[in-house]
Amino acid sequence: MSVKRILGFIGLGNMGLPMAGNLINEEYEVFGFDINPTAIAKFQEKGGHICPSIKEVLQRVDVVFLSLPSPAIVEKAFYEEGIIKYGREGLIIIDTSTVTPELNRKVFQACLENKLKYLGSPISGGVIGAVNATLTFMVGGPKQDFEEVLPLLNILGKNLFHVGENPGSGTVIKLINNLMIGFYTQAVGEALTLGEKMGLDHESMFEILNVSYGQSRIYERNYKEYIAENNFEPGFTTNLLLKDLKIAKQMAEDCKVQLPIGDHLVEWYSQIANEGYGENDMSAAYLMTKKLAEKAETTK
Ligand SMILES: NC(=O)c1ccc[n+]([C@@H]2O[C@H](COP(=O)([O-])OP(=O)(O)OC[C@H]3O[C@@H](n4cnc5c(N)ncnc54)[C@H](O)[C@@H]3O)[C@@H](O)[C@H]2O)c1
Repeated sequence: MSVKRILGFIGLGNMGLPMAGNLINEEYEVFGFDINPTAIAKFQEKGGHICPSIKEVLQRVDVVFLSLPSPAIVEKAFYEEGIIKYGREGLIIIDTSTVTPELNRKVFQACLENKLKYLGSPISGGVIGAVNATLTFMVGGPKQDFEEVLPLLNILGKNLFHVGENPGSGTVIKLINNLMIGFYTQAVGEALTLGEKMGLDHESMFEILNVSYGQSRIYERNYKEYIAENNFEPGFTTNLLLKDLKIAKQMAEDCKVQLPIGDHLVEWYSQIANEGYGENDMSAAYLMTKKLAEKAETTK
């Protein structure tokens, strides 16, 4: 990619905004759109050019990134809001949203028929990874398209994987990653609640468990960034984790794999969301677990 491409960014939320900012910092012109005025204002502060619609973004750009909350919203952006209709021939679409592998394949096919290039490119590493440009990209789609956008991905992340030619292949591994995140997040909630009850303090537990086999990156993330700070502003919301767990469950059902605990996670995180923690960071699973323990105490 020798000529500096003009870039677009659709979805400027917790992940999209810092990613767009990192591209702007590398002197790229970035045209952006979000339905949330606050997100747009922050993007403009970073030096981004705001557009009033997806159509306006697509009329200007050579490469467009998506960072949207759900498969339904991504599908709408392609079919109703005009990505397919208004994308210029040769446009490269890098979809970093976590959707279903089926949607990645469906959209890829529609793009192909309209002379657009599409990469299903889910990411991992959280907001901190988006800010510090240390994200992991798990990319499905034609390898030559992946190689074409590598200079851009290099600005945003440090672990860049071409998972396979199938546009949904990156999403498969991303969903498996998030299934594990669902386990670990609840494990941290249960460990801290039980430890507290047995008279341990959080810091001593972390010091010991962090150098023992109970250690995990999610323990470090959830504890250090959220629980120890008593701040559950996302981050990665419970609702987004729940969305990914539901897709992972469906993927397991489709290939006839039973997930004895994984299946239960969907129920459990639904309960957490219903309790009012849906828009909190997922580490609020600890608050929910603690609440249950306190309830048991008072009903003794
Ligand atoms: N937050 C994380 O740690 C994390 C990590 C990896 C992957 N992801 C995935 O990345 C995606 C984005 O996550 P996020 O945490 O940034 O979510 P978010 O809700 O903070 O951001 C999504 C943004 O999309 C905007 N939006 C919604 N509908 C739109 C539309 N039709 N057109 C334009 N903009 C629209 C919203 O206003 C919001 O600003 C999700 O698919 C999520 O699963 C998130």
